[in-house]
Amino acid sequence: MGKIILGDQILGRPDVHIDLEDRGYQFGDGVYEVIRVYGGKLFTMKEHIARLFASAKKIKLDISMAPEQIQKLVEDLVKENEVDFGSVYMQVTRGAAPRTHMFPKPASNTKAVFTAYTNEVPKPASQLENGVEAITAEDIRWLRCDIKSLNLLPNVLAKQEAADAGCFEAILHRSGIVTEGSSSNAYIVKNGEVITHPADHLILNGITRQVLVKLCKENGIPFVEKEFELKDLQNADEVFITSTTSEVMPVIKVDGKTVGDGTPGKITRKLQELFEAKINQEIMANF
Ligand code: PDD
Repeated sequence: MGKIILGDQILGRPDVHIDLEDRGYQFGDGVYEVIRVYGGKLFTMKEHIARLFASAKKIKLDISMAPEQIQKLVEDLVKENEVDFGSVYMQVTRGAAPRTHMFPKPASNTKAVFTAYTNEVPKPASQLENGVEAITAEDIRWLRCDIKSLNLLPNVLAKQEAADAGCFEAILHRSGIVTEGSSSNAYIVKNGEVITHPADHLILNGITRQVLVKLCKENGIPFVEKEFELKDLQNADEVFITSTTSEVMPVIKVDGKTVGDGTPGKITRKLQELFEAKINQEIMANF
């Protein structure tokens, strides 16, 4: 984990103290981001910082720092911790105040608390190569899944259900309409079209998803944002999920039923290649 950012300072872990009454701790009153680090460089950092500010605005949380200041601090942290392949976790909470549900009064001088730390995370190479298995689970989350909020209990429960079934991910559905994964976006491929849930309030508009939309456009791969059902998932030619840590991850079994021929599909493979090229291109451009 190495050094940690607290506010505008980079500190050793023993020097980082979070108040018991921090609203992130007591109410999940805050937002977060996970950014990938490849070869010491932060991938799609500006997009992640922009989404952090967008999430904060949606919960009326004033981060009290500029995006450029956060970018500089996080870049310094990655250098300081000598992260090669890893991730940065950052979060902002509404700060510490006596526990009552309503926001602290401005006169209380309660300030948002910004923290960030790094982890070494290797590429999930064999899973990317061979694909993973998923279960489906009812999406019991709130109706503002577009906000990357700290309240992740439904996601945690769904992910644990997947883990208990020996699977990598739980693909969620609301009354049969597939929304996304517990910590990823979900896609099917049918007759050459990539299909995924529209980026509305029922899913997180993933940064990886946004990269994929562009890659599909640039490479003439049909990309359709529309609702699809569990039966479409069961009958898909290909299934895959995307996230910052999972990249473009093939799903080869859903609820124990083989997808396609049971190996990562052609379009999924193509998207993996394009995504890898995009990473290399962005990382090289930043040297
Ligand atoms: N999760 N949907 C949900 C519910 C997520 O939690 C995530 C990411 C995504 C994919 O978003 P992105 O491509 O921006 O990572 C979609 C992160 C990685 C996490 O919570 O660890």
